[in-house]
Amino acid sequence: MSTNAERIERLERMRAEARLGGGPARIERQHAWGKLTARERLELLLDAGSFVELDAFVTHRATEFGLDRQRFLGDGVVTGHGTIDGRLVFVFSQDFTVFGGSLSEAYAEKICKIMDLAMKVGAPVIGLNDSGGARIQEGVASLGGYAEIFLRNVLASGVVPQISVILGPCAGGAVYSPAMTDFTVMVEGTSYMFVTGPNVVKAVTHEEVDSEALGGAGVHTGRSGVAHLAARDEAEALEHVKRLLSHLPQNNLADVPRVPTQDPPDRMDPDLDTVVPDDPQKPYDMHDVLRRVVDDGDVLEIQPAWAANIIIGFARIGGRAVGIVAQQPSVLAGALDIDASVKAARFVRTCDAFNVPLVTFVDVPGFLPGVAQEHGGIIKHGAKLLYAYCEATVPKVTIITRKAYGGAYDVMSSKHIRGDMNFAWPTAEIAVMGAEGAVNIIFKDAIAGAEDPVGERKRLVAEYEQEFSSPYVAAARGYIDEVILPRETRPRLVRALEMLSDKRDTNPRKKHGNIPL
Ligand code: HXC
Repeated sequence: MSTNAERIERLERMRAEARLGGGPARIERQHAWGKLTARERLELLLDAGSFVELDAFVTHRATEFGLDRQRFLGDGVVTGHGTIDGRLVFVFSQDFTVFGGSLSEAYAEKICKIMDLAMKVGAPVIGLNDSGGARIQEGVASLGGYAEIFLRNVLASGVVPQISVILGPCAGGAVYSPAMTDFTVMVEGTSYMFVTGPNVVKAVTHEEVDSEALGGAGVHTGRSGVAHLAARDEAEALEHVKRLLSHLPQNNLADVPRVPTQDPPDRMDPDLDTVVPDDPQKPYDMHDVLRRVVDDGDVLEIQPAWAANIIIGFARIGGRAVGIVAQQPSVLAGALDIDASVKAARFVRTCDAFNVPLVTFVDVPGFLPGVAQEHGGIIKHGAKLLYAYCEATVPKVTIITRKAYGGAYDVMSSKHIRGDMNFAWPTAEIAVMGAEGAVNIIFKDAIAGAEDPVGERKRLVAEYEQEFSSPYVAAARGYIDEVILPRETRPRLVRALEMLSDKRDTNPRKKHGNIPL
């Protein structure tokens, strides 16, 4: 019989063994690739000393293909809870040094356990992904494990924030877990995501492509829109997670923590008065507007490299977290196209799910015309953004800086779809379309029959502009609550958000809506 000292020594030995994962040689290999180990990543992510590990001694139960002779304590994933800036989070960190981080039945159970706990106590889940996918030797048991995780991703969606970080391979069906979380962060050069890898692509379509070009961070943050933020290295990726979390509540029933600021709530910025050029065809950078309005000029832009004609991101105004949606007139004139609609729609729903008020800056000439857009389904994709804004019950504040034309006026958080406070700058042009286009249609015959058609056209455009290309027709109907000086934007937003802080609104009871997917 062993002594107590021997029993304690055994536990310590086992703990040390678990900490080593796949062993020193594989850890060295991981470092040689420029990657950290699963545990080193958790140390960077969590507050010092806060990590509490669960299931460190779980092993797989497989016996085939020689697996009965290869068991590693923890079985390739480190799970547990800890804190970030003092707030509770649940984490799993896939350990590539054990069977390439591949997912077994037992490994999936570990992840499900922390997801279930996170749901019970209402805390975010952060997944650090670095895995060769399904553990091939386990077959369908592994596929079942993935499905158990997918189910929990969906049940947790809109209840607790879920953030995925991709720090190595993430391939095959495994990609669908990150895809169903709220945010996905990737590291440049060392992470990739694809449903079928370069070899399968080559066999099926004869396309030659490597992992990076097929599914690297640049591809997914710049072209596909699958990922939200790219990082230069792993440390930066984990910093992105912390910043994202700072703008989110613990769960859908909690509020986002307020962050006191030295930036005065009544700060006016006279430079805003000259941001919009006199020539309505001239672009300007909407970032200049945002920086001058939000606390300390600090915007955490999300998906900056994809669909740059619309800007989305988190910021604070008067210490309150807000989600910002803003047209970018310097890209595609700020027109709404398929990608911009999908990008903003998803963000609006994320903010609404997690009680983050929406502040929308509008300068939109309409939906982008073109065969590619129509055939690509701009009707149903544009409808996603409209649907998301209509459905959202968080405080919604809108500022029209310049154009709000056509259907895009309705879509961009207008009064009619439950915009709570709708402001316009004096430079706003709220109309069915621009003056040139409108005059060409409604005065076609009058212009053709005029003695001086060019002069007549010019006169009519000027008349139309005077009459309709302003915020005052909309203001006369109460569609705009107030026309404000651009410099007053920040103080007005602070007061509007304060007034709306206890807003309650609901949608009719239903199983769920039918957003046009
Ligand atoms: C079991 C695996 C594994 C897997 C890697 N390993 N992937 N073991 N199941 N899926 C093991 C390797 O045998 C090796 O073990 C160690 O992990 C490191 O792998 P290497 O190949 O040496 O590393 P590297 O050269 O960096 O290549 C990494 C890799 C490659 C690109 C991930 O291993 C790979 O292609 N693996 C298979 C990927 C795959 O096809 N997975 C299934 C996809 S289908 P040793 O002992 O030598 O260290 C899928 C479906 C999910 O995932 C379904 C959800 C619905």
